[in-house]
Amino acid sequence: MTTLLIDTDPGVDDALAILMAHAHARVVGLCIAAGNVGLAHTVGNALKLVETIDVDTPVFAGCPTPLVLPAPGAGFVHGEDGFGDTAYLPAARRANGEHAAAAIVRLARERPGELTLVALAPLTNLALALRLDPDLPSRFARLVVMGGAVTGHGNIHLAPVEFNIGFDPEAAHVVFSEWPQFDLVDWEACLRHAMTFEAFERMLAAGDERAGFYAAISRKARAFNRSRGRGMIAADALAMAVALDPAIVTRAEHHHVAIELAAGLSRGATVVDWHDRLGGRANANIVLGVDQARFEALVAAALGIPAAR
Ligand code: BDR
Ligand code: CA
Repeated sequence: MTTLLIDTDPGVDDALAILMAHAHARVVGLCIAAGNVGLAHTVGNALKLVETIDVDTPVFAGCPTPLVLPAPGAGFVHGEDGFGDTAYLPAARRANGEHAAAAIVRLARERPGELTLVALAPLTNLALALRLDPDLPSRFARLVVMGGAVTGHGNIHLAPVEFNIGFDPEAAHVVFSEWPQFDLVDWEACLRHAMTFEAFERMLAAGDERAGFYAAISRKARAFNRSRGRGMIAADALAMAVALDPAIVTRAEHHHVAIELAAGLSRGATVVDWHDRLGGRANANIVLGVDQARFEALVAAALGIPAAR
């Protein structure tokens, strides 16, 4: 069974990914970043989620801001509290006292070569962890990153930029330039692998209490998705599927990807050397397609729907 360490900013699609992780793998920790909403909410949401599904996964609070410049969140998608503004009763649990970046370093050293690191948030904690331990990549079995827009079809006000990378481009630069090899699940792959609303609503109706909780916290995000008419996009869930089941990938290309840091319209863009002309290390295995049925089966099981026989 895969063992995961997850860096995340819950966030509605993060929540689905975390449910998937606990349904299909061992999870040694949730490291929390600011991103979709502020750190107090992302930490509170992570605690609420682990309490709701009754697992003892530790939650480590990380960086409250990007490394260099402040950035706007995505409360207009996820709800101002990141979990759909349902006014849920806060969790009784508390976050572990260790900083998320320190926890990444420690857990990787305790389990050399064992952990898959799944990065579902701006890469702030991970960049800091890399600065604390430059040998960090060698201590993980694998890194899967949700981020970027590999042909410039982004999802924030800077057109070619995706949220996780655009929120903290400097952190992304540290990770992309220093992590030798990682799987990259970009926003455009997530658009291609949106679920239909009908299929997703059926899952929510047929699942167990996890589906009930998810239906409540995702109401606003589902309405936002409907208003855009591109299907039910669950970006972090797709990245989690790739982490849980690498064989789900049907099409991928391996290239050098760098982060644009200059101020301007493309700050935070993921610049892909598609024709391998620049001589940079092919750091990213860019996931271009997955098996949709297997992806949706992983989601369905995480919502409590038994596999069809
Ligand atoms: C990414 O940004 C966040 O809003 C989501 O949680 C996901 O990690 C998609 O661009
Ligand atoms: Ca996220």
